[in-house]
Amino acid sequence: MKFFIDTANMDEIREAFEWGIVSGVTTNPSLVAKEKGVTFEDRLKEITELVPGSVSAEVIATDAEGMIKEGRELAKIAPNITIKLPMTPDGLTAASTFSKEGIKTNVTLIFSANQALLAARAGATYVSPFLGRLDDIGHDGLELVSKIAEIFAIHGLETEIIAASTRHPQHITEAALRGAHIATVPLKVLKQLFNHPLTDKGIEAFLNDWNNR
Ligand code: E4P
Repeated sequence: MKFFIDTANMDEIREAFEWGIVSGVTTNPSLVAKEKGVTFEDRLKEITELVPGSVSAEVIATDAEGMIKEGRELAKIAPNITIKLPMTPDGLTAASTFSKEGIKTNVTLIFSANQALLAARAGATYVSPFLGRLDDIGHDGLELVSKIAEIFAIHGLETEIIAASTRHPQHITEAALRGAHIATVPLKVLKQLFNHPLTDKGIEAFLNDWNNR
C-alpha cells in the first residue's frame, strides 16, 4: 500500500515528502479553503513541482459539462494532476469522458461498494472510500474497503482503492491488510505511524551505553 498525504499545505507536503514515503497528494475544497493568499491553480502548480506522483484536484461544478470544463483546465496545470470528481451521475459522466481522454480521475465521497463498482465501470483511475466519516455515523469504514477490494479482484477491475478520511494508525494497518492500494493520510496521522515507545527506549539505551563506554 502506498501513502498519499491529504492536505493542500506546502509545509506539510514538504515535511512528509522529505521522509521519502509519500507517493502523491490529495486535496479537497475544504483543505484548499484553509490556505489563504494563494490561488488554487498556483497551489496546484507548487505541489506538482515538488511531487512527481498523483495530485488530486477536486472540481467545484456539480453538472457534468461544468466538471469536464473545469477538469480539463486543471489537467493542463501538470501531467500528474488527477481530477477528483464527486460520486454522482454527473461525476461519473465526467469520469467516463476523462477516461477516454487519458486524464486520471479520483471518484470521491464513496460510501458503498455499489458506488465504487459504478465508478470503476465509468473508468475511474481511483475510488476514495471515506473510512472516518462512515465510522462517525456508526458504520464500519474498513469493512467497505474489504468489500470493494474483493469485488475489484473478482471482476478484474484495475481501479485503485484510496482509503480516505483516515483518522488513526489502526485505519492504516487495516486498510493495508484489506487490500487498499493507497491510503491518503493527514500529516498528524502520518507522524503517529512512526511512534513506538520501545523505539524511543531503545534509542535512549543505545546512546547511554555508547556515551558510557
Ligand atoms: C480524501 O481525498 C479527502 O480529502 C479526505 O480524506 C477527507 O477526510 P475527512 O473526512 O477527514 O475530511
